[in-house]
Amino acid sequence: MDSTGEVPEAGAVAGEMRQDEARRGGREQSAPQVLLLFAHPAYERSRANRALLEAARTLPGVLVHDLYETYPDFGIDVAAEQRLLAAAPAVVLQHPLYWYSAPALVKEWLDLVLQHGWAYGHQGHALDGKRLLSVVTAGGPRSAYGSTGANRFTLPELLRPFEQTARLCRMHWLPPFAVTGVHGMSDAELEASVALYLEALSFVSGEAPAEVDLASHELLNDLLEGDAARRRRGEPSIRREG
Ligand SMILES: Cc1cc2nc3c(=O)[nH]c(=O)nc-3n(C[C@H](O)[C@H](O)[C@H](O)COP(=O)(O)O)c2cc1C
Repeated sequence: MDSTGEVPEAGAVAGEMRQDEARRGGREQSAPQVLLLFAHPAYERSRANRALLEAARTLPGVLVHDLYETYPDFGIDVAAEQRLLAAAPAVVLQHPLYWYSAPALVKEWLDLVLQHGWAYGHQGHALDGKRLLSVVTAGGPRSAYGSTGANRFTLPELLRPFEQTARLCRMHWLPPFAVTGVHGMSDAELEASVALYLEALSFVSGEAPAEVDLASHELLNDLLEGDAARRRRGEPSIRREG
């Protein structure tokens, strides 16, 4: 929430129409917990991101903001984007991995929206303390991402520019969430990834318990899968009740 406590106006961004989702979840007038920035230049052909996004849309407290839908001509409304960011304590950036990075509109968005004196610098504190979760889908399997794999670097290594951007803006960077090997993925595997993604969104919408060592997990997937295994064994979960 911003310093005025205001949520962004409905329709503040052309094509941005998801304020009603928060209301459907009984959160009328309350700010979304998670702003989900989504970027896919060919959503009509998407399988993986479509499945993830459709599930995310069902969660109360998640405001989905589709950047390519809103700005097909890259004409980003900087003030409207800043209002959306200011109102959300947690931000998710979801996109397919394109050339070991994000689709082009994400770069344009970063270049324009994260202004000096607003997002960073001595006077720029609008994003201080907000959580940022990077969510990527990748054609390559997880085994291809590492020093011995075809892609030579781990996904967190490749996402370092996003991590450092977040840190410069004094945001709280979480281990990324990744759905890898999407091209050969069965429907059942994709469903399992969607279920884990819902856990990730629930995790990012709250403060991580102090005892969770986030840095020791390469991906948030690892932490959540470990937690699910603990729950199956009847051991205490890292998740807070309620
Ligand atoms: C332009 C382009 C670049 C891509 N670059 C990568 C890449 O660097 N690494 C990778 O694993 N997959 C790469 N892919 C594959 C996409 O990540 C994959 O098609 C996408 O995650 C599938 O998600 P979707 O079903 O939502 O489209 C690339 C695909 C395209 C079209």
